[in-house]
Amino acid sequence: MEILQSAAALQAQTEKWRREGQRIGLVPTMGALHDGHLRLVQAAAAENDVVVVSIFVNPTQFNNPDDFRLYPRLPEADAALLGPAGCTALFLPSVEEMYPEQSKLRFDFGSLEQVMEGAHRPGHFNGVATVVSKLFHLSRPHRAYFGQKDLQQVAIIRQLVADLSFDLELITFPTVREADGLAMSSRNRRLSVEARKKAPQLYKALQLGVRLLEENRPVASVKNEVLQFLAMEEAITLEYFEIADARTLQTVEELTQPQEVALCIAAWLAEVRLIDNLLISAKSL
Ligand code: PAJ
Repeated sequence: MEILQSAAALQAQTEKWRREGQRIGLVPTMGALHDGHLRLVQAAAAENDVVVVSIFVNPTQFNNPDDFRLYPRLPEADAALLGPAGCTALFLPSVEEMYPEQSKLRFDFGSLEQVMEGAHRPGHFNGVATVVSKLFHLSRPHRAYFGQKDLQQVAIIRQLVADLSFDLELITFPTVREADGLAMSSRNRRLSVEARKKAPQLYKALQLGVRLLEENRPVASVKNEVLQFLAMEEAITLEYFEIADARTLQTVEELTQPQEVALCIAAWLAEVRLIDNLLISAKSL
């Protein structure tokens, strides 16, 4: 596995692969890799000739300076995991390499970002769209891989690809979980032993919501029950729980027709913020 640190080196390598007719898969990450990331890499390796994984803790998408400062950074351990997972080239740029000057372009995704993560993390999706656009331009992948764990991010990137005519296929991958249901996340490393024990309650809350919706309970009462369930857990400070249309991400008030809905949650366990979601397919309602 090659390690590339400059944008020019990534561009040169991927251009060469393109000329040779190799299919390029791209997996953008911020590192501190876990099985969720590695499954994306494995999927990319199975479907493409070469796989680029980027590890870049992107400062422009952090709205909280402590979150940026404390975000786990483990480049050596990450690099050791990537080769065996099928990564061909690891792109590991510095902040100066990605942002030689402060970017001025601003993205506005309208209703897609006025809810949930977008509403609670001002500027977050602008930073995500900026860095993902840069990565797409630099590596020109045939396919790019993203996790459903970050459902709103997928919706934003789908819009980005459509609006800017990126010539690539977006592949999404289901959320990979720990044995107790906790969605894998780089931020889980920051949980105290106590908080780690409580963290699976977020998944339990989502499962409760799914079960109640499947019993055809009204959306408002499902929300209430889930909020009550979470209120019992002192260690958890809820930021939001939403039942939303899985594509538009707009809040669903009532399920009048079969539709794909997403149950989405964001909560703090001490000073660590976690998100999770579950989808219910139209057929099961
Ligand atoms: P990061 O949080 O490192 O996640 C990288 C990719 O892994 C994202 O597509 C994310 O959805 C996926 N992922 C994370 N946890 C997962 C899990 N438990 N199961 C399946 N997939 C999972 O998301 C980002 O980085 C950044 O915003 C990025 C897109 C790299 C832009 O900076």
